[in-house]
Amino acid sequence: MHFSKTAGYNRDFLNANMMGPNSMLILEELLQNIELKKGMRVLDLGCGRGLTSIFLAKEYGVQVFSLDLWIPASENYARFKEMGVDELAVPIHADANEMPFADGYFDAVISVDAYHYIGNNDTFFAEKVKPLLKKNALVALAFPGMKCEVHQNVPEDMKPYWDDEALSMWQSIDWWRPKFEHELDNMNIWQMECFDEAWSDWLATDNPYAVDDRAMIKTDNGRFMNLIGITGTLK
Ligand SMILES: C[S@@+](CC[C@H](N)C(=O)[O-])C[C@H]1O[C@@H](n2cnc3c(N)ncnc32)[C@H](O)[C@@H]1O
Repeated sequence: MHFSKTAGYNRDFLNANMMGPNSMLILEELLQNIELKKGMRVLDLGCGRGLTSIFLAKEYGVQVFSLDLWIPASENYARFKEMGVDELAVPIHADANEMPFADGYFDAVISVDAYHYIGNNDTFFAEKVKPLLKKNALVALAFPGMKCEVHQNVPEDMKPYWDDEALSMWQSIDWWRPKFEHELDNMNIWQMECFDEAWSDWLATDNPYAVDDRAMIKTDNGRFMNLIGITGTLK
């Protein structure tokens, strides 16, 4: 897949604002499956430094509510102004477990590399996300996971890189599918094509977390770690 839209963004800007595998690339692949229309109201859940919000506003002209816990809203507001999207992207500092929105407010929810922190359970989607969505809202999620079930038999060479917290978040497609198949129509769940490119972009940055991740990805060598995409429309 050729990521033509992401290619138009300044590489230094992306490098400075990535918080994991290149979220613009991941979003570009995710959006192959759903049709965003100008003016839609979109929740960007766990937006981090807002790369995905910038992409959504610039490329699709949607109104984005950019919610994140670790990154202050003022920082994202400054970035949105710098990128000329502050009329469309609304920065919000909040916990996804207590979102300050009206019921039935959003036409779509997207979340890149954040959902696994909060949604790795049987209640989060139904109790915290679904009430905020309109009927037939678009759902597009992507997060790291595993290519197969490893939890009962963690490979020795990966044990130094995967602590219990990581293992509780990084699950397989078979683990995630039942969490969504009763909630979504036209559901797709897949191993994302952009894995190598999105991870290479992140590992090439000088972010200390990326430097730490280099040994993990090298040791894994394509065996276990995955990027999982999920799209669909709310039933
Ligand atoms: C690895 S970063 C990815 C950020 C961004 N989506 C990206 O891909 O560049 C994970 C993000 O999840 C967000 N997050 C984790 N738990 C959260 C929660 N309870 N509420 C809101 N955001 C949360 C963090 O604030 C963090 O920015």
